[in-house]
Amino acid sequence: MASLHAVVVVVAASLLLMAAFDGALVHADFYNDVDFVWGYQNAGIWNDGNSLSLMLDNVSGCGMVTKNQYLFGSIEVQIKLVKGNSAGTVTAYYLSSTGDKHDEIDFEFLGNETGQPYIIHTNIFTQGVGNREEQFYPWFDPSDDFHNYTIHWNPSQVVWFVDGIPIRVFRNYESSGVPFPNRQAMRAYSSIWEADEWATRGGLVKIDWNSAPFVAYYQYLQLRACPWYGPSSSGECSAASPANWWTSPEYSTLTYQEQGQMKWARDNFMIYDYCKDTERFDGAMPPECSLPKY
Ligand SMILES: *[C@@H]1O[C@H](CO)[C@@H](O)[C@H](O)[C@H]1NC(C)=O
Ligand SMILES: *[C@@H]1O[C@H](CO)[C@@H](O)[C@H](O)[C@H]1NC(C)=O
Ligand SMILES: *[C@@H]1O[C@H](CO)[C@@H](O)[C@H](O)[C@H]1NC(C)=O
Repeated sequence: MASLHAVVVVVAASLLLMAAFDGALVHADFYNDVDFVWGYQNAGIWNDGNSLSLMLDNVSGCGMVTKNQYLFGSIEVQIKLVKGNSAGTVTAYYLSSTGDKHDEIDFEFLGNETGQPYIIHTNIFTQGVGNREEQFYPWFDPSDDFHNYTIHWNPSQVVWFVDGIPIRVFRNYESSGVPFPNRQAMRAYSSIWEADEWATRGGLVKIDWNSAPFVAYYQYLQLRACPWYGPSSSGECSAASPANWWTSPEYSTLTYQEQGQMKWARDNFMIYDYCKDTERFDGAMPPECSLPKY
C-alpha cells in the first residue's frame, strides 16, 4: 500500500513537472525541430533524429537552424568536432536574432592541423554591436569525443559552459548603459564552413581539400528554453515565475563553485580577452570591461 502510494505521488509529481514546462520543449530532435538553411545535401540525420552530422566538402558547407525562436533558457548540445586536419574550417554554434540591431551569442570552433589545438572562440552581439571576442584552448581534444556546449541565457546573465564549466559570463549591465540581449527572440544555429582566410593561426594555414570531407557530429540537442510566438510572448518569457526556471535566483549569478571553475578555465586556457586588448580599442575600453565579471 505504502509503495503504491509512493508511485502515485511520483506520477503526480512528474505530471506537475510536465505541466510546469508547458510549451518549453526539452529534448529536441534533428528531424522535427531544426531546418537546414543551406547545404542540405551535406547533412546526415540518424538514430531517430537524435544524431546529426554536418559536412564541409569542396562543393559546400552546411547549416541548420531551430524552427522555434526562444527568449531565455538553456540551449545545450553535444558536439564532436572534425577529426584530423581541420585547419581552415570553422564549426559554429550560436544563438541569433534577425534584423540590423541583432543580438547574437556565439561559440565557434576554429580548426587546426592534425595534433594542434582547436580554438574555442566566443563573442556576443547586443543591439548589433559585437567586438567582444574571448578565446580559449579546450582542455581536451574536442574531436575525440562528444562534449557538452551549453548557453544559459536569462534576464540577469549569459553564461557559456563547456562540460559544465562556465568559461565566460556576460552580465546584464543595462543600468550602466551596456545593452543586454533581453528583448529579441533568437534561434539556435549550427554550421560548418571554410574560413581559411582567418581561422587557423590567423589565416596562415589554409584548408587542405585532400583532407575533405570535414565532418562535425552532434547529439543530445536540448532546448530548455522559452518558445517565442510573437511580441506577446515577451512578458511571458521574462516573468519571474516557477515555470520560468531561468528567472529563478540560482541562475542569476554563478555559484562560488562555478566562479572557481571559471577562474580555473580562464587562468589556464584563455588565449584572448577583448577587455585586455587596450591597443585595439585605443584605450576606450567597452564599459563592461571595468564592471565586475560576475
Ligand atoms: C571535389 O572532391 C571530389 C571528391 O574528392 C573530387 O572528385 C572533385 O574533383 C573535387 N572537385 C573540385 C572542383 O575540386
Ligand atoms: C551540460 O551542461 C549544462 C550546463 O552546465 C548542464 O546544465 C547539463 O546538465 C549538462 N548536460 C549533461 C548531459 O550533462
Ligand atoms: C593551431 O596551432 C597553432 C600552433 O600550435 C596555435 O598557435 C594556434 O593557436 C592553433 N589554433 C588555431 C585555431 O589556429
